[in-house]
Amino acid sequence: MINFEALFKISYGLYIVCSGDKNLGNGFISNTVFQVTSEPARFAACCHKNNFTSGFIMDSRAFSVSVLKRDASSEIFGRFGYKSGKDFDKLAGMDIRYGDTGVPVVLNESIAFIECRLDQTIDLGTHLMFIGELVNAEILDNTKEPITYLYYRQVKKAVAPKNAPTYINRSKSEVKPMVLFSKYECPACGFIYDESAEKVKFEDLPEDWVCPACGCGKTDFIKIYQ
Ligand SMILES: Cc1cc2nc3c(=O)[nH]c(=O)nc-3n(C[C@H](O)[C@H](O)[C@H](O)COP(=O)(O)O)c2cc1C
Repeated sequence: MINFEALFKISYGLYIVCSGDKNLGNGFISNTVFQVTSEPARFAACCHKNNFTSGFIMDSRAFSVSVLKRDASSEIFGRFGYKSGKDFDKLAGMDIRYGDTGVPVVLNESIAFIECRLDQTIDLGTHLMFIGELVNAEILDNTKEPITYLYYRQVKKAVAPKNAPTYINRSKSEVKPMVLFSKYECPACGFIYDESAEKVKFEDLPEDWVCPACGCGKTDFIKIYQ
């Protein structure tokens, strides 16, 4: 028997993993960044093969990891965690520094960053696990705490979307009550789509419908059972 709640007892941080160069770069929110060896210091980051960023890491053979602060905004999660760089330039207008390897480092809402040169890539089917050797690490703001996945779930009331390795398919794990109208919540900004108020079933909205508050895609919305 698998109790999915037990999986939430495993702790993670939340990061922006970024790659590319001065001409073009991209980044995504990841909770699967962790140190795997100390000598040499190496870090792993798991990236869905469909993530736009995966191609940048393979081409640049390097990546940066920005450690997000605890009160990081919904906008930063919306931009890097629920939208793809295939659709717009995620780094445009952001505060970017270029690291020793040439990869972009996102400084916004971050308290520290590390930069790694790609060492190994492990194919995990849906995801690639990138393992990189540490070449640079800096503190940006020593006064703030890093955000944890637990805080993101409990305080920000958000969950990881389908591309995250820790995504849980709730339609398989929960018993659904019979209700005529439901509510759906935007995982990026918390906007509630209320079918009874809108008089349109969520499933009848067009596939290209997006969150009116933050632009998050329809498929990322989470049905709320009350
Ligand atoms: C809390 C959270 C954790 C996530 N963790 C991961 C992760 O570890 N690996 C991954 O591939 N995607 C993860 N994602 C999903 C990606 O950030 C998301 O699919 C992103 O839009 C991909 O952007 P890209 O296509 O521009 O690379 C996570 C998203 C959120 C909000």
